[in-house]
Amino acid sequence: MLSREATSIISPIGLSKSSSSPEEENSVLEIWGRSPLAGDVKISGAKNSALVVMAGALLCSQDCRIRNIPLLVDVARMSEVLLALGVKLHHQADILKIDSSQLSCSKAPYDLVSKLRASFFVIGPLLARLGVARVPLPGGCAIGARPVELHVRGLQAMGADVQIDHGTVHAYVRGSRGKLQGARIYLDYPSVGATETLMMAATLAEGETIIENAAQEPEVVDLARFCRAMGSRIRGAGTNTITISGVSSLHATDFAIIPDRIEAGTFLVAGALTHSEISLSPVIPDHLTPVIAKLREAGSKVIMEAPNRLRIVPGQAILATDIQTRPYPGFPTDMQAQFMALMTLSEGNSLITETVFENRLRHVAEFNRMGADIRLQGNYALVRGVPNLSGAPVVATDLRASAALVLAGLAAEGKTILQGLHHLDRGYEQLELKLQQLGARLQRISRECNDSENQPDSDPAVFTPTQVTHKFK
Ligand code: EPZ
Repeated sequence: MLSREATSIISPIGLSKSSSSPEEENSVLEIWGRSPLAGDVKISGAKNSALVVMAGALLCSQDCRIRNIPLLVDVARMSEVLLALGVKLHHQADILKIDSSQLSCSKAPYDLVSKLRASFFVIGPLLARLGVARVPLPGGCAIGARPVELHVRGLQAMGADVQIDHGTVHAYVRGSRGKLQGARIYLDYPSVGATETLMMAATLAEGETIIENAAQEPEVVDLARFCRAMGSRIRGAGTNTITISGVSSLHATDFAIIPDRIEAGTFLVAGALTHSEISLSPVIPDHLTPVIAKLREAGSKVIMEAPNRLRIVPGQAILATDIQTRPYPGFPTDMQAQFMALMTLSEGNSLITETVFENRLRHVAEFNRMGADIRLQGNYALVRGVPNLSGAPVVATDLRASAALVLAGLAAEGKTILQGLHHLDRGYEQLELKLQQLGARLQRISRECNDSENQPDSDPAVFTPTQVTHKFK
């Protein structure tokens, strides 16, 4: 877990190792269930906005200052990629200064890209700025194959010559001018990443680019807002058709990214699951419309206490509720595992359909180890509500599943031991600290001292707030 106290000059030698350190790899989260939560929680900046805005800063040959940057392992990894490209970074608290004026290298290192899929997004800005980009294929991950053909085909439509050789995408712009050309591009699927890659590439292209069947996620809109702040001309972000008129160069800007709607949704579910009233801010309620609608259908009240502040008030019972994950404004796939955790304790049967990723139901087996009753059939999960979950040793399979298992542990009877914390640290800033401050009883301990034979089953009286941190040196 990252420490907010970290202030650092990120430099090639100083950055924390992107792979967790041995002690962190040996850490587990010990969670004692059934503690009511209460109070307010601060929502951090959006991971999926921070990562793509960091890549977008490559488009600008002047200093950009980005605020509300969450302290996450994925942000540290993206920083390593930018440093490897010759970018200068200065990170102080939640402010990241990015100086791409000396951008010189067009080759993103495999060992860094393979650890962070989002680093593939640099291909658009590199092509736009340098006319050449060599970026390793990001490869698949636990939730699916994660191909990038929509990115590649769009760049080819804009005049890039793209070859894939030995696992690396080699792209360069034909012709002496080395400039991408505006094009009309239809995306077979409203891919978030492909929309963002092509929107960034088009900002410095010659002529007009139209992206049809574009993704409408709030993070796409935030990226467009950032590019416009640097002087680009983008219309239609947030709809399924985005028009970009290329400009010759972009200028510096000072930009604050949006709050993380998935972190906010995760805390709303934490309240509903533990029958606790909690408030969270800052949030943008419109970004949470499908999640709020489904929580209300499941019996909770979600109250807007202020334009950027929500409060969850759980109902008497958790009502069975079906969800289908869809591209925005549908129910977000990044909230599927967390909502499933809630449905395990509902009164009735819920059908959960994962339509975005082909392998994003691996948390079902872990929930069943905790006493849930979930049947899997392809990308459908039939959740039969049970009266109780029981704490158990469980393993996180991906980022959002790890958060969902924490939530399940908070609702279960007894002790849950969660392994695979490297997933959690990728996408949640100080999650256990924020939960402890709400009254949750959980702590990060080294696996050695978690040897269950020696651990009392009675929960300890006092929980010391977790201080395990990744250090930016
Ligand atoms: C972004 O991933 C997010 N990541 C994901 O969040 C999120 O789950 C996803 O969008 C969907 O909302 C970041 O923004 C860094 P996609 P991305 O391209 O861009 C297929 C999290 O937990 N596809 O919209 O990779 C793809 O295989 C992460 O924070 C192609 O087939 O998602 C998938 O099935 C997980 N060809 C579907 O589209 C392509 O060229 C959606 O992928 C591109 C995508």
